[in-house]
Amino acid sequence: MKTILVTGGAGFIGSNFIFYMMKQTPKMRIVCYDKLTYAGNLSTLRPIMDAPDFRFVKGDVCDREAVFRVFEEERPDVVVNFAAESHVDRSIEDPGVFLRTNILGTQTLMDACRAYGGVRYHQVSTDEVYGDLPLDRPDLFFTEETPICTSSPYAASKAAADLLALSYFRTYGLPVTISRCSNNYGPYQFPEKLIPLMIANALADKPLPVYGTGENVRDWLYVEDHCRAIDLIIREGRVGEVYNIGGHNELTNIELVKMICRELGRPESLITHVADRKGHDRRYAIDPKKIHGELGWLPETKLADGLKRTIAWYLENRPWWEEIVSGEYQEYYRKMYGAR
Ligand code: NAD
Ligand code: DAU
Repeated sequence: MKTILVTGGAGFIGSNFIFYMMKQTPKMRIVCYDKLTYAGNLSTLRPIMDAPDFRFVKGDVCDREAVFRVFEEERPDVVVNFAAESHVDRSIEDPGVFLRTNILGTQTLMDACRAYGGVRYHQVSTDEVYGDLPLDRPDLFFTEETPICTSSPYAASKAAADLLALSYFRTYGLPVTISRCSNNYGPYQFPEKLIPLMIANALADKPLPVYGTGENVRDWLYVEDHCRAIDLIIREGRVGEVYNIGGHNELTNIELVKMICRELGRPESLITHVADRKGHDRRYAIDPKKIHGELGWLPETKLADGLKRTIAWYLENRPWWEEIVSGEYQEYYRKMYGAR
């Protein structure tokens, strides 16, 4: 039986990936290694905590001793690294922890892979490493050849980790792949991100804070489509390669927020334009030609359907997110939105 080490598996995409892999590949041992920062939520993993082939280990990816201990105990065949500080706004306020976790954490994990040998390493990255595209050029898309050109400290930290991963492939021959995905949405996303934030605020009849004009475009991907792509890459992807994931689901923020209002039966008058994000990327848009051609992957969930499913999940799982928004999140919200 193969063992897969999923770092950051108590967060949004990592937990969805664990659920996906348990369904897809039942004969696999899954070890989740997560520091449980503000974004990690053990209650997400509660239903599988006692599953026979699952183990949760609380730990920091920057803690060499703890990382090497889990490698010694579990001897993973594959590592999929989701562990990261992931919110752009927080990186603008305080970049330090982003550099530490996202870069040094990646180094520590790859050092452990080298030390134990024969470990396949996958780095979960982002389309934000490419910077942004102009709004008046809908013909342009991010390909794997688009130059790295980061806007936020978050994006810069992810780009640094990507370069480090490629250097470990070239220098040490570590079997590495990288995926660069567009904006995900779906169940278990922390309510600081656009879609769950708007759902939670709309349900409470609170203002819906749209940054700037709201004309910025994101390329939305249902989280399960992302998980399927990563599964394909770790099984069939070519090592040393980068794969873009996403495509065909572009929308302006303002249109998206209006869709959420319509789905929830809330008035658009809740929409409040607030001060723009510093260095706000204008448009992300993925060209998925490479992953489609090599691995046969394309997104399966259309935004309209995925959004309905996501909203239904947030309505059916109120305790999961209401607990989050009632705690220290209040302080975060005051700080980020209070004087905006
Ligand atoms: P998230 O913030 O929801 O979860 C991150 C998880 O990592 C949390 O469980 C947290 O506890 C854990 N973590 C943070 N620091 C850690 C550390 N030092 N050691 C161990 N664990 C730590 O993030 P997400 O949205 O699920 O994103 C997962 C990955 O996917 C990230 O690498 C992110 O850059 C990338 N990504 C996200 C998106 C998106 O739209 N959310 C899109 C493309 C790529
Ligand atoms: O593209 C992939 C990236 O997508 C991931 O690498 C990041 O981890 C993930 O957080 C996401 O980054 P974004 O900055 O695009 O996501 P966010 O949900 O923060 O914002 C989406 C858009 O909505 C962006 O244009 C900013 C805008 N926005 C966001 C918030 C939180 C608002 O207008 N109002 C808000 O309150």
